[in-house]
Amino acid sequence: MDKIIIKGGLPLHGTIKVSGAKNAALPLMAAAILAPGEHVLHNVPDLRDTRTMLTLLASFGIKWRRRESDGALLLDSTIIDNVEASYDLVKTMRASVLVLGPLLARMGRARVSLPGGCAIGARPIDFHIKGLARLGVVSSLDNGYVEGSVEGRLKGNTIYFDIPSVTGTENLLMAATLAEGITEIRNAAREPEIANLIDMLTAMGARIDGRDSDCLVIRGTKKLRSAEVTIIPDRIETGTYLLAAAATGGELTVAACNPGHLGALIEKLREAGVEVRVGQDEIFVCRTQPLRSVDIKTLPYPGFPTDLQAQIMALMCLGNGLSVITETIFENRFMHVAELRRMGADIKVDGHSAIVKGAGSLTGAQVMATDLRASASLVVAGLAAQGETEISRVYHLDRGYDDLVGKLIGVGAVIRRESE
Ligand code: EPU
Repeated sequence: MDKIIIKGGLPLHGTIKVSGAKNAALPLMAAAILAPGEHVLHNVPDLRDTRTMLTLLASFGIKWRRRESDGALLLDSTIIDNVEASYDLVKTMRASVLVLGPLLARMGRARVSLPGGCAIGARPIDFHIKGLARLGVVSSLDNGYVEGSVEGRLKGNTIYFDIPSVTGTENLLMAATLAEGITEIRNAAREPEIANLIDMLTAMGARIDGRDSDCLVIRGTKKLRSAEVTIIPDRIETGTYLLAAAATGGELTVAACNPGHLGALIEKLREAGVEVRVGQDEIFVCRTQPLRSVDIKTLPYPGFPTDLQAQIMALMCLGNGLSVITETIFENRFMHVAELRRMGADIKVDGHSAIVKGAGSLTGAQVMATDLRASASLVVAGLAAQGETEISRVYHLDRGYDDLVGKLIGVGAVIRRESE
């Protein structure tokens, strides 16, 4: 297992280029199941999760390769000869559940391992199952696997989400494109990754109204065709680097991003006294004054993203007062608190809120990564801390950050990766 060692306390300077979004790439890759032919996806990040999705798609019979000339991912889904997503793959990546809707829509049946709990909460998939049942899927649980089938085509229907679910919306959206009749998804999630998926489905011939809204109307069609699309920039990777720059001071430009997707974070950074300038596809941050502590509440998009909660908590440890950080999406997403405390942070957890008493500084320590975004928060903390920070179990970071160490070295960080 590898570890990352950071010599902290050095300001970041220069430009970091953001990769394609993990959480857009995964559903768009799954969407290739829906129509036979060769799909072309640009800007797919090379991550552990995207590789897991490729292994999963290959297990169904889909062929893939990276085009040498431009790195585009080509997915040939002409033949699908297996509809089972094994526990071995699903347990390493919960987003594997995204194949359920497309498999049922195209093949009429699917057998997908039920994901277990994970480091950030129980994370059930009951909304996915209930929504698919509304479209005519009969499912049962067999040996830890969800087995679903449908007589003929799926049937359009109205689906209400109790609370907006990102992958739930994506799964049902994909399934509904091949259903008979009209499907309405109400209280749908509105994350930009869903708009990216809608763009792909539309390019495949699907008819979808309500992009960017919480009510999606899908007019089902019998057949879709292959498509060529570009994955949007990763807003969480963008936000992580903005927060790292705010934590260390210095001047950083995050390039090839979409500033429009980061409104909530940009407002919070400004409130905290960080200078933020926004261009068309880049964001410049610079901090020359002490940080002000601000309160944060995670919410579905366009609210503050839960996927940046851990990283902004690391920043708030450097603030000048009290910051209340409330997590409303996941019940157990404070695993980073104990690790940040090892670096000198003063944080109390009270139910869904963490009360951070900013002390202006952190000190390096040996810490352990527990999930993807918790790991990213330890990197932000380590970059800002005085002395050396050693982060173990960094395989979590490989799931979602493309060349993190290389990108940070490029802007002046003293960071290296070693085998333990
Ligand atoms: N929920 C249910 N039942 C369901 C589905 C969701 O109760 O059937 C609950 C969840 O437990 C949670 C809430 O609904 O409390 C919202 O969860 P959501 O379904 O939106 O999460 P997700 O689709 O499983 C995606 C991202 C996560 C991100 C969340 C929230 C992907 C592949 N994953 O997960 O990303 O945190 O939305 O924005 O898109 C990450 O990248 O580190 C990550 C965890």
